[in-house]
Amino acid sequence: MTKITNASSSLEMRRRCTSATVCALVLATCAVLTYFAFFSDQLQLPWRPPWPRSAIYDPNLIPIPIPTAQAPASLSPAPTNLSHIVFALGGSAQTWDQRRAYTELWWHLNQTRGHVWLDQEPSSPWPNACPPYRISRDASRYGNRAAASRIANIVVEAYELVSSSLGEDEVRWFVMGDDDTVFFQENLVVVLQKYDHTQMYYVGMPSESVEQDVMHSYGMAFGGGGFAISYPAAAELAGIMGGCLDRYANFYGSDQRVQACLAELGIPLTHEPGFHQVDVRGDIYGMLAAHPVAPLVSLHHLDYVKPISSNRHTQLEGLQSLFSAYEVDPSRILQQAFCYDAGFGARSVLSVSVSWGYTVQVYPQVLAPHELETPLQTFMTWRSSSNGPFIFNTRPLGDPNNPCMRPFIFFLDRVLQNETEATVTQYSRSRNADDQPKAKCSKQGFSVASRINKVRVFAPKMDPLLWKQAPRRHCCMTRRTQWGRMLEVRIKYCNPGESTTPPV
Ligand SMILES: *[C@@H]1O[C@H](CO)[C@@H](O)[C@H](O)[C@H]1NC(C)=O
Ligand SMILES: *[C@@H]1O[C@H](CO)[C@@H](O)[C@H](O)[C@H]1NC(C)=O
Ligand SMILES: *[C@@H]1O[C@H](CO)[C@@H](O)[C@H](O)[C@H]1NC(C)=O
Repeated sequence: MTKITNASSSLEMRRRCTSATVCALVLATCAVLTYFAFFSDQLQLPWRPPWPRSAIYDPNLIPIPIPTAQAPASLSPAPTNLSHIVFALGGSAQTWDQRRAYTELWWHLNQTRGHVWLDQEPSSPWPNACPPYRISRDASRYGNRAAASRIANIVVEAYELVSSSLGEDEVRWFVMGDDDTVFFQENLVVVLQKYDHTQMYYVGMPSESVEQDVMHSYGMAFGGGGFAISYPAAAELAGIMGGCLDRYANFYGSDQRVQACLAELGIPLTHEPGFHQVDVRGDIYGMLAAHPVAPLVSLHHLDYVKPISSNRHTQLEGLQSLFSAYEVDPSRILQQAFCYDAGFGARSVLSVSVSWGYTVQVYPQVLAPHELETPLQTFMTWRSSSNGPFIFNTRPLGDPNNPCMRPFIFFLDRVLQNETEATVTQYSRSRNADDQPKAKCSKQGFSVASRINKVRVFAPKMDPLLWKQAPRRHCCMTRRTQWGRMLEVRIKYCNPGESTTPPV
C-alpha cells in the first residue's frame, strides 16, 4: 500500500512538477507574447508585413510619388478654379427652408459664385448662411409643366447675368443643380479642368436606374446630379432657348428640356462618373462603398434614402461626417483600396475593402478585386422599386447560401490626424445589427474578423493632379494590433509590378 502510495505520490510529484513546468512554460510564453504584442512595432514577426514603426506613425514618411502630370504649357490659360464656375440652383421659396441645409454643407460663402433661383420672393428674411438668391422669369406661358420650363431656363438667366457683367475668361462654366444637390466643389473643379472651356461641352451623368434612362434618355444629364455647360455652349443655348422651351413644353423635367435643346445644337453629353443623380431607393451604402475610380462630384435625393451612416442619427450628420474627411483630402474621398490580411496564416485570410473617408468592409474570406469593386446591392430602382437593372453591375448583400460573402461593416468615426501630406482616419463597427453577417460563416477568418472593432486607415493625401492621369486604384497593406481588435490599413501608391492578387 505504502509502496503504492509512495509510487503514486512520486507520480503525483512528477505530475505536479510537469504541470508546474508546463505552467512556467506557458507563463513564459505568455510573457514573451505580451512583450511581442506591445512592442511588436519594432519586431518583425514572420506574419507581419515589413512595416517599420516610423512608416506608420509618422505620416510624413509615407512616400508620395512625384506626379508626372505636366503643368499646362505657359501659353495655355490658367487652370480652371472655383471662381471660374457659376452655380445656378433650381429652388422654390416654399421648399428652400427644408432643403437649405444641403446647400449650406458645401457652398463657400463669398467664394462660390452663383445663385439659388426661386419662383417667388421668400416669405421670411433670407438667412446670411445661404447663397444669394434671384427670382427667375415667369414661365407660365410654357403650359402645365411650367415649373420645369422655369428651371430649364435658369441656365440662360445665369448666362445673361454673367455675360452682361463678366467676360468669358472670368466665367468658364455654368453648373446646374437642384436645391437638394450636394456638390463636392474641389472635385468638380478637378473634373472640369480636364476639358477645354473654350469648346462647347455638356458634362454630367444619366440615371443609375436603367428604367429612368429608357424613359427619359441615356444621352441626358439628370439634373439633380448636376451638370456643367461650358460658356460657349451656354451662349449657343441662350440663342435658341425661348423657342426650344415652346417646342418641348410637354416634356417631363427641366433636365430633359435642356438636353432636347442641346440636341438641336448637336452638343452631346460627356459622361463623368462622379456626378450622382442617386435615382435609387433604400440604402445607397453599396454605391458609396464601391465608387468608380473617379472623383466624387455630387450626391442627390438624400431625403429619399436611408441615412448614409448607420452610426449617425440623421442624414445630415452622416454627410457632415463624410465632409469632415472630404475636407482633409478631397481627391481621395470614397476612393477604394483592397488588401488581404493573413495575420493568422493562410487559412484565415480576410479581404479588406476601404472606401476612404466613409466605410471599411472586412470579409471573412477571399474576394477578388473584381468582386470588391462591384457595389453590394443595398438599393432598388427609383421608379418601380425593383431589383434592377442599373447602369453598373451589383452583387447581392445577403446570399443565404454563402454567409461568408457578407462583410463586417465599419463607418468613419473621425479624422484622427491631418498632416500636410498624410491623414489618419478611424472607423468603428456599425451599430446596426443588419450590417453584420447574420449566420456564423464556417470560414476560419470569421472569428478573426468578428474580433475587430476599429479600423485605422493611414493614407498619403492624394494629389489632384493624379486625376489628370489614367485613373488607377491605390494599393494597401494591413496588420492587426491591440490583440486583434484594431485593424490598421496603410494605403499607398502601388509599386511597379504590384497587383492586388487574391492569396490562394
Ligand atoms: C483663378 O484663376 C484666375 C486666373 O484665371 C486668377 O486670377 C484667380 O485669382 C484664381 N482664383 C482663385 C480663387 O484661385
Ligand atoms: C461675405 O461678404 C459680405 C459682404 O462683402 C460680408 O459682410 C460677410 O461677412 C462675408 N462673409 C464671410 C463668411 O466671409
Ligand atoms: C488639414 O491640413 C492642411 C495642411 O496642414 C491644412 O491646410 C488644412 O486646412 C487642414 N484641413 C482641415 C479640415 O483641418
